Amino acid sequence: MNTAANFSLRTLDDSDLPALLELYRACEDFLALGPCPRASLEMVRGDLAISRENGGTFQGIFDPDGRLIGVADWIAGGFEGEPATAFIELLMIAAPNRSAGLGRAVVAEIERRIRQAGAQRIELGVQVNNLPAQRFWLRRGYRSAGPPRKFADGTTAIRMRKVIHEPA
Ligand SMILES: CC(C)(COP(=O)(O)OP(=O)(O)OC[C@H]1O[C@@H](n2cnc3c(N)ncnc32)[C@H](O)[C@@H]1OP(=O)(O)O)[C@@H](O)C(=O)NCCC(=O)NCCS
Repeated sequence: MNTAANFSLRTLDDSDLPALLELYRACEDFLALGPCPRASLEMVRGDLAISRENGGTFQGIFDPDGRLIGVADWIAGGFEGEPATAFIELLMIAAPNRSAGLGRAVVAEIERRIRQAGAQRIELGVQVNNLPAQRFWLRRGYRSAGPPRKFADGTTAIRMRKVIHEPA
């Protein structure tokens, strides 16, 4: 079955932690671009806590058989005090499930939900050393919104932005 057309999103709870850890392990190629290349429960719990603190929507991406194959975390509005600005905090798909159209389909669904919530623009950060992701976001209509910034964890990221709804 075509997973890109048949995925589902759902909120995760503590019972999903083992599957989440497996998923993070299947994304260690991506984690290796940042300060902490090895997946751990501490890292998973940390991302969940960041999402909660920021008012995020941390969702699991499931295939038609109910297997967790990705995660997405976004703030539907009010990012950095701007009611009309949404922010995609995290999008991560297990390595074996990439390059098959799933990311594209998930982003379209996130954008649909954010638009429905009333935001007019979506921002995100992408690491300067993650060229495939930069290409991915460019193809989805996101554009660089400022110079690269260095963060306390040692990563350097570019802010990207897409206008999804012009104010009337
Ligand atoms: C980035 C990511 C979410 C994209 O999801 P995906 O399911 O692999 O993407 P898709 O299969 O929908 O591909 C969408 C497009 O990107 C292209 N693409 C995907 N992976 C690519 C790669 N490694 N190099 C170049 N292009 C790539 C596809 O050809 C496709 O092209 P199109 O826009 O012309 O249609 C996924 O690869 C991922 O989870 N990567 C690791 C984590 C990460 O980098 N997250 C983003 C952090 S900002």
